[in-house]
Amino acid sequence: MRNMSDHHTHVQEFFAARAADWDSRFPDDGPVYAAAVADLGLREGDRVLDAGCGTGRALTSLRAAVGASGVVVGADLTPDMLQAAVRAGRDRDGRLLLADVTALPLRSRSLDAVFGAGLISHLPDPAENLRELARVVRPGGTLALFHPIGRAALAARQGRRITPDDLRAEPVLRPLLAGSGWRLTSYVDRDDRFLALAVREG
Ligand SMILES: C[S@@+](CC[C@H](N)C(=O)[O-])C[C@H]1O[C@@H](n2cnc3c(N)ncnc32)[C@H](O)[C@@H]1O
Repeated sequence: MRNMSDHHTHVQEFFAARAADWDSRFPDDGPVYAAAVADLGLREGDRVLDAGCGTGRALTSLRAAVGASGVVVGADLTPDMLQAAVRAGRDRDGRLLLADVTALPLRSRSLDAVFGAGLISHLPDPAENLRELARVVRPGGTLALFHPIGRAALAARQGRRITPDDLRAEPVLRPLLAGSGWRLTSYVDRDDRFLALAVREG
């Protein structure tokens, strides 16, 4: 097993190579991100983290949901992804942090919600890392684990089959979240959308 620093280097190298054309690869994703953010149920003035924000594709929708009085933070480990976010002007919608979401520089219970798109499969220790996300969210706050493509469609695109032990399979994800301080409240896995919503237990 790789140690943490090797894992970070691997993630950074993987996404650094993809940062420049990340947005142009899937130019039609905007509305599905906006719809996923809408399902998170944010309110005016809320404080929300986009965990593994990448080029910040969700930041404009997150800012629109919380308004000028809210707080939007985008955290990512890969400088090239954050630089692409700045080039796209998305730093106007949220504060960008070069940070590891497995050890966040944020106070406990300081947020109302976390949005994580395309994140969970990159986490080195999902149970522990989801617990870290729970730490920074107040009880009753929410988590969205989103992907703009469902598990079966993604597997087909990558030329593999989905397996029952996939982290995002509901029978795996539900207890994983429960053990990390989250209660799964909604689960959708269609070709055009994967969205798991959870509430932070008290
Ligand atoms: C598949 S991309 C998704 C980017 C963005 N959320 C989107 O939907 O376009 C995964 C992102 O997570 C980031 N990431 C992976 N592990 C991370 C970690 N431990 N801390 C912060 N960011 C991480 C990567 O750098 C990458 O930008």
